[in-house]
Amino acid sequence: MKVAVVGSGVMGPGIAQVFLMGGHRVALTDIKEEALTAGAREIKNSLELMVSKGISDLDVPALLENLETTTDLATVKDADLVVEAVPEVIEIKKKVYDELDRYCRPDAVVVSNTSAFPLPDIFPQFRPGNFFVAHFMNPPQIIPLVEIVKNDRTNPDKVAWLKGELEKCGKKPIVINQFIKGFLINRMQAAMAREALYLYEKGIVSLEDLDTATTACIGFKSAWQGTFETMDYIGLDTCAFAYNVIFPDLCSDTTVPGTIMQKVKEGKLGLKTGEGFFTYPDGAADVSLERQSGLLEQLKLFNAYLLKK
Ligand SMILES: NC(=O)c1ccc[n+]([C@@H]2O[C@H](COP(=O)([O-])OP(=O)(O)OC[C@H]3O[C@@H](n4cnc5c(N)ncnc54)[C@H](O)[C@@H]3O)[C@@H](O)[C@H]2O)c1
Repeated sequence: MKVAVVGSGVMGPGIAQVFLMGGHRVALTDIKEEALTAGAREIKNSLELMVSKGISDLDVPALLENLETTTDLATVKDADLVVEAVPEVIEIKKKVYDELDRYCRPDAVVVSNTSAFPLPDIFPQFRPGNFFVAHFMNPPQIIPLVEIVKNDRTNPDKVAWLKGELEKCGKKPIVINQFIKGFLINRMQAAMAREALYLYEKGIVSLEDLDTATTACIGFKSAWQGTFETMDYIGLDTCAFAYNVIFPDLCSDTTVPGTIMQKVKEGKLGLKTGEGFFTYPDGAADVSLERQSGLLEQLKLFNAYLLKK
């Protein structure tokens, strides 16, 4: 099939790579030529890294022959699937949908990678039934999960089709049956972040130890065992007892914690400014590369043991 990815920023190239690795023809489009050049370079580097790490034995030059980069959105006209990954600005999204409406095949599936907006509700006239959300995780070429978000009008056959195609590309899609703020992953992460920030602000646990709790226990086990499997493993009677004691003690604040607001005020925004909760004297590129290498090791294990679970 042919897939068109609109927007070659942080997410677009990785999303394009997913479908290239699935054996499809992919058109990556952007309004900026330099974004396309950078995107194509990222895809090549990432594919080569995957091969060198033994993740796949794909023929990189052959795959890249299936990649077209263009500033001409009319390339979507013969696409079976269009993935929109333009900035999270409603006016930009609207402009793109107006154009897509002119070019796309009537039966094409159009999905948005939005992190926040209920776009099929905001634009009910745009491709009703065939337009919904497919939220890839960053970096999309590595993280297996994709959140598909539908509403009452979404065509269930198109959802089933996309889910199947993503699975064939090695992804683990899940379906969220109605729009909820933050979808699933960001809600679960926010719940954990709120508790971690609370314990840090109270001076009960250090930042370093809170992060060790995630990587050396919660994340370590969660890669192999889901939330509900974990409860079964613990024993539901024990869970009931523990939650009865812990739930009333958990943070339930509804405002953003002061620690984050203060850092934002000081311009300490994290990796991108060289300082957030921690400092990054060697710059973002090194940290990102180390992270990507670690995630690829994890992907190897995931593909070997968990993909078909
Ligand atoms: N960055 C993340 O970690 C992340 C994760 C999940 C979802 N998302 C979502 O994915 C979408 C894209 O995010 P991003 O971080 O990749 O954005 P980005 O700003 O990095 O990239 C967007 C790209 O779209 C291009 N663009 C702008 N107008 C265009 C148009 N009319 N036609 C074609 N291209 C156009 C820009 O030139 C830019 O290269 C957003 O909806 C965002 O919320 C982002």
